[in-house]
Amino acid sequence: MNEVSMAIRLNVAAAVAREAGQLIRERFRCRDTALTFEFKGPQDYLTQTDGEAERLISARLTEVFPDDGFFGEETGPRINSTADCGTWIVDPIDGTADFARGVPYFCVSIAFVQQAVTEIGVLYDPMLDELFVARRGHGATLNGKPIEASQAKDLSESIVELGWSPRVAFSRYACVLEKVHSKGAGVKRRGSGALGIAYVAIGRQDAYCELHINSWDAAAAVLLVQEAGGWTNEFMTPACITEGNCVIACSQGLRRDLEAAMSENLA
Ligand code: IPD
Ligand code: CA
Repeated sequence: MNEVSMAIRLNVAAAVAREAGQLIRERFRCRDTALTFEFKGPQDYLTQTDGEAERLISARLTEVFPDDGFFGEETGPRINSTADCGTWIVDPIDGTADFARGVPYFCVSIAFVQQAVTEIGVLYDPMLDELFVARRGHGATLNGKPIEASQAKDLSESIVELGWSPRVAFSRYACVLEKVHSKGAGVKRRGSGALGIAYVAIGRQDAYCELHINSWDAAAAVLLVQEAGGWTNEFMTPACITEGNCVIACSQGLRRDLEAAMSENLA
């Protein structure tokens, strides 16, 4: 795919993320009357707005790029078999639990992946009006301004977010927590893996780790960290698209300690 096609995709993805974000913000603000939630599984929230926003994103992207594949958290895969085409990987609301419970911490995540390489990553936080954008080899920005990961080298001076879900045994998560905490890190856990990783790209925290996260949660944000000069594991692989993967996203200087803490606890 040539430069121009990729640049067009980036601009369209950014516009679509903003449009979906506006819809989500409106639903959030009138949630007393418009929002009900249910569960897809243990602690796995679902609201009507997840589906509504995903349908909007899918319709817009399909209208402009009918040959591209699409894989959304709520609607599943429509992966195009044409070798040259890539696939959009979309989480309409990452941080659904917070959205459903009235906490303003969630985002839209859109990635474009070609032959298991993430080419574009766009994340939009509709409550703060923050648009994070990355294109492979072209850097990462927040609202148009370049961003950089932190220079942290020592866990005792670092903030590390550890994501967790019921997809992983709690004992394994607890073991990582113990190791990272014992080295003096300030450990946090918020409700959006995508935003947590984006916050590493902009240096608001020094690392985000999770033993298993889905492709739609992390694909866009991992590219942000790579393009912002941070370090990540090889998150995107052919299997990751449908099965997810472990994620480590951090400053270059924290790589060794976090790889050690995580690798001992992988399945
Ligand atoms: C979840 C959030 C959470 C992470 C989980 C994800 P959802 O996605 O990103 O922070 O720890 O792995 O499943 O349910 O809010 O879309
Ligand atoms: Ca998600």
